Amino acid sequence: MSSFKALRIHEADKGVDSRVEDITIDDLTEGAVEIRNAWSGINFKDALAVTGKGKIARKFPLVAGIDLSGTVESSEDPRFKPGQQVLVTGWGIGETHDGGYAERARLPGDMVVPLPDELDLRQAMVIGTAGFTAAMALVRMEQNGQRPEQGPVVITGASGGVGSFATRLFSRAGYDVTAMTGKPAAADYLRSLGAKAILDPADVDYGKGPLAKAEWAGAVDALGGDTLAWLTRTVKPFGNIAAIGLAQGIELNTTVIPFILRGASLLGIDSVYCPATLRLKIWERAAQLLKAEDFQAIGQRELTLNDVPQACADLLDRKVQGRMLVRLSGEQ
Ligand SMILES: NC(=O)c1ccc[n+]([C@@H]2O[C@H](COP(=O)([O-])OP(=O)(O)OC[C@H]3O[C@@H](n4cnc5c(N)ncnc54)[C@H](OP(=O)(O)O)[C@@H]3O)[C@@H](O)[C@H]2O)c1
Repeated sequence: MSSFKALRIHEADKGVDSRVEDITIDDLTEGAVEIRNAWSGINFKDALAVTGKGKIARKFPLVAGIDLSGTVESSEDPRFKPGQQVLVTGWGIGETHDGGYAERARLPGDMVVPLPDELDLRQAMVIGTAGFTAAMALVRMEQNGQRPEQGPVVITGASGGVGSFATRLFSRAGYDVTAMTGKPAAADYLRSLGAKAILDPADVDYGKGPLAKAEWAGAVDALGGDTLAWLTRTVKPFGNIAAIGLAQGIELNTTVIPFILRGASLLGIDSVYCPATLRLKIWERAAQLLKAEDFQAIGQRELTLNDVPQACADLLDRKVQGRMLVRLSGEQ
């Protein structure tokens, strides 16, 4: 049986040991669809998993990587045919199930999404979980009544993977976007993605009371903690806040006042176990909104499997802007 390269996380005395090694298909968790992987990407969660800074890996050894795109090699699931191009994000790959940082994957058919016609395999991973999650925020907010004419939408952690995509997608969908970033050097990049205004967190008065001046028709939050609490105080009547991330903290110290006096909605975004029907709708919306030039505009670096551990450390040190792609077969 032929071997292939994989970046696997092993349990170690102190934390984890993540290394590239040769494995065979039988080393992978079971699944009906075998995929020749073309690309993966690096998300915040991957960085936590590979460095061991977060308890993401739930089995050892584990092929890391919560995203992949590639071509079906063989399938016992009648929905997929050899040669078909597919993508997978979430569903526990790179957590409980072997994931995308390998030249091959073997996954249950329910996890596998046919590649939308508008995208190639590389573009699907420029989007990856980060872009999919941003698109999920857009779809969920619009399902709950969000419209561009209601006013500005603020996006926090804007220079990151989710934030970059949210900035581009909401701008493409006609929203007036304020990008909040702690990286002053990212301002031009965020303007090039469509941000109308840049907000430095150092200039924000986070306040303490239950309500403050209503500024935002909507918000997409990658940070949690004090930032999310501030958003609940400053969202306009009937505005939506999409709670995506915890880069700043997991606490949420707020009151019920914004919900009962301003009709604010706090929408939970779970890209991992997003139901299949909604998942397809989100991929379609993202594929339709994004233009070819957007895939150049979103900052991106191409890496090999060997580069991934250092890149994960850089991401957690906030040295990364935009997306990092992992080249496997490199097929488009
Ligand atoms: N709910 C879901 O399904 C889902 C899916 C994907 C990601 N997430 C979560 O969403 C968040 C963002 O993910 P990502 O992949 O975009 O990560 P990322 O590329 O690392 O971006 C996170 C951004 O947040 C800001 N940031 C980071 N650490 C911070 C801190 N300590 N205090 C304040 N700001 C900080 C930085 O933006 P600036 O420098 O521009 O301020 C950074 O670029 C993570 O918490 C991730 O776990 C959730």
